[in-house]
Amino acid sequence: MLKYSRIVGTGSHLPEKVLTNKDLEQMVETSDEWIRERTGIGERRIAAKGETTVDLAVPAARRAMQAAGVDPDEIDLIVFGTTTPDQVFPNCGALLQDRLGIRNCPAFSVEAACSSFIYALSVADKFIKLGDAKCALVIGAETLSRIVDWSDRSTAILFGDGAGAVVLKPADEAGIISTHLHTDGFYKDLLYCPVGPSKGFHPDEQGRIPAYIHMAGNEVFKIAVKSLGAIVDETLAANGLDKSAIDWLIPHQANIRIIQATAKKLEMSMDKVIVTVEQHGNTSAASVPMALDAGVRDGRVKRGDLILLEAFGGGLTWGSALIRY
Ligand code: UT7
Repeated sequence: MLKYSRIVGTGSHLPEKVLTNKDLEQMVETSDEWIRERTGIGERRIAAKGETTVDLAVPAARRAMQAAGVDPDEIDLIVFGTTTPDQVFPNCGALLQDRLGIRNCPAFSVEAACSSFIYALSVADKFIKLGDAKCALVIGAETLSRIVDWSDRSTAILFGDGAGAVVLKPADEAGIISTHLHTDGFYKDLLYCPVGPSKGFHPDEQGRIPAYIHMAGNEVFKIAVKSLGAIVDETLAANGLDKSAIDWLIPHQANIRIIQATAKKLEMSMDKVIVTVEQHGNTSAASVPMALDAGVRDGRVKRGDLILLEAFGGGLTWGSALIRY
């Protein structure tokens, strides 16, 4: 049995259309100043009409495969993290497989809201550790703009679209050192989108189909800060590490204030944190692999660095991964 899986390539992709805070000022009662101060977000990207989650994932996956020097026929597993699939089925992994010209490998999606990429990474890591895969493509991609209520200022300012990808291969040395996953369904009513094929698409009291994100922002914020603080401790303790060992924190990009709180918990200065929230807001499952790719491509993240990835989202779900890049 091989001991570790290792990230051998990263990639990301954003749709072209930019929606700035100034644009949002024309849509809801808000201000650039409020959004920047309370969230750290400057702008977000919005998928074009007809552009889907898989459309965004294709270039991200190709970039990760190119960085890894891997051809499509080498990929023997696809795990696709998303909350906004193109359609009910086939799953986004299968649709991506077809678009990349990959034949006959297991391909499936994992849905754990903003934590979906960390969950997908954890699943793919286990396939590789057990010898059931030798070259895995792991995706986090979203078109969250499709489930945003653009008349609700408390959520419309937060979310955006994008895709990130990594390629994993077996290695004798770490690699992915440990992953830690949590869900507490007790909090299901704090962050949710209440429609689906089974429950149905019934109109609400205003006669609208409520196919959009509902969030008790302030409560979610407090639980996020607490849970991410706890998972940092859990991850360090599981590996007998002191917080000073971490070279980079690559957090879910939901809100700069949540990121700052986690960095504080790690006693880390913000220049050791990869922050991309200003450029594209909260892209849910895409956020962590896009931030990782940003750090790798601009040369900050180097081979051998010890990195803590973490995410938090609807479910509530949260998770972390400790990796030696
Ligand atoms: O990725 C999944 C996990 N999601 C998150 O981690 C998001 C967590 N939550 C948050 O990031 C923050 O709670 C928000 C950014 C959503 C809101 O920030 P907050 O500091 O928690 O604000 P609040 O909800 O307590 O609202 C404060 C005030 C309210 O006005 P009053 O009642 O004090 O008069 C809101 O009505 O800010 C008002 N407000 C706004 N004002 C201008 C809420 N949204 C806006 C807005 N523009 N867009």
